[in-house]
Amino acid sequence: MSKQMSHLDNIPSTPGKFKMDKSPYIHNRLRWHSSLAKLTFWSFMFLGLILIFFFRSPSSNPLPQDPSRRSLRTYNWGGPAWEKRVRSSARIRSRNGISVLVTGAAGFVGTHVSAALKRRGDGVLGLDNFNDYYDPSLKRARQALLERSGVFIVEGDINDSALLRKLFEVVAFTHVMHLAAQAGVRYAMENPGSYVHSNIAGFVNLLEVCKFANPQPAIVWASSSSVYGLNTKVPFSERDRTDQPASLYAATKKAGEEIAHTYNHIYGLSLTGLRFFTVYGPWGRPDMAYFFFTRDILKGKSISIFEAANHGTVARDFTYIDDIVKGCLAALDTAEKSTGSGGKKKGPAQLRVFNLGNTSPVPVSDLVSILERLLKVNAKRNIMKLPRNGDVQFTHANISLAQRELGYKPSTDLQTGLKKFVRWYLSYYSGGKKAAG
Ligand SMILES: NC(=O)c1ccc[n+]([C@@H]2O[C@H](COP(=O)([O-])OP(=O)(O)OC[C@H]3O[C@@H](n4cnc5c(N)ncnc54)[C@H](O)[C@@H]3O)[C@@H](O)[C@H]2O)c1
Repeated sequence: MSKQMSHLDNIPSTPGKFKMDKSPYIHNRLRWHSSLAKLTFWSFMFLGLILIFFFRSPSSNPLPQDPSRRSLRTYNWGGPAWEKRVRSSARIRSRNGISVLVTGAAGFVGTHVSAALKRRGDGVLGLDNFNDYYDPSLKRARQALLERSGVFIVEGDINDSALLRKLFEVVAFTHVMHLAAQAGVRYAMENPGSYVHSNIAGFVNLLEVCKFANPQPAIVWASSSSVYGLNTKVPFSERDRTDQPASLYAATKKAGEEIAHTYNHIYGLSLTGLRFFTVYGPWGRPDMAYFFFTRDILKGKSISIFEAANHGTVARDFTYIDDIVKGCLAALDTAEKSTGSGGKKKGPAQLRVFNLGNTSPVPVSDLVSILERLLKVNAKRNIMKLPRNGDVQFTHANISLAQRELGYKPSTDLQTGLKKFVRWYLSYYSGGKKAAG
């Protein structure tokens, strides 16, 4: 009996539901039922946990869904026809030409740099994930423009190692012009994950592939004036401190500079970082003030102009796109070869950082006055306090280093550059073209 009782002890806690019987057969059945019930119970628990985890994890993720991440999964590439296009676009057509992989080629700066390289006979292959941070139809229009001059843009993400390795297998790029990034200062508060994805993880992934490429390419990449952050010493010089970023965007660009140092130090990659100062011009970025001020002034909408504490002026060192392009090409042309091979450093390699600005900051209210004259429309100005969401009060580049080493000499003033932008804007968005924003 005591033996039987010990069997019963194993039955889960609802003895009233069991009819006690002394038959061993019944006891065995009871034991079997008990095990089955336990097994079923724990299976359901386990299944339930998996379902809870599966359905809850996306919404409990603190980082919002990243459009560029989605794009990583959906692009198609490869095949003989695709490889042929890649090869043809990257073919060098001039003596002493270089072959350049331009990341972010459907972007504002990327389009201009790719077109300029192609014009002088260099081989150019673009790479872009066409994310929807701003109107992708503008990126498609830039793509069509490049297509007409013989530049193919591969659709893909810089986080896609297999794609990058394939590109280096098909073409022995001598240089990489790395411009793909999540740009914009304020959007970082909305979608921080996209900055980590493109500016940090994507950059590391690109460098990982470059370090194993044979030969290793020289890399020129876009940092930003935003690394100067809360620095108050002007004009900003490359030697100034950059440890007080005012936005996550700035922090990821600063991280990029440190990552560049590491890959140069360990693997012998030749790396040049360019700190661009507020680039503007035709085919520009709709999220930038000069662009959306133009749109809103034309629509009769009021525009917000920021001022700092005590009516302090907010000013930017606006730099015209053609000047930036010259700086980029000069950086590529003066870049020394990387020294590593097989993923190993074979000697010291070049590591540089340059400011590419205009050395003439202009108050944002003056920018608006120029636009009013060019558009022949008065702006509805709404003066507001500069919010603490990433913007800094002013930027001003000291460009003497770039002048000395790259022969960089910006030559377009804001009035002249905005005139060219407005002309482009009016022709692009008129004649049945979609309205901006
Ligand atoms: N325009 C400026 O005033 C300015 C100032 C400082 C620094 N920069 C830097 O210069 C570079 C170019 O800027 P822009 O103004 O041309 O910006 P942009 O947004 O027009 O161009 C960036 C391009 O990169 C692509 N991209 C983003 N993430 C990608 C990814 N993970 N994989 C593949 N493609 C990706 C985008 O689709 C876009 O076409 C960026 O690195 C930016 O941070 C620009």
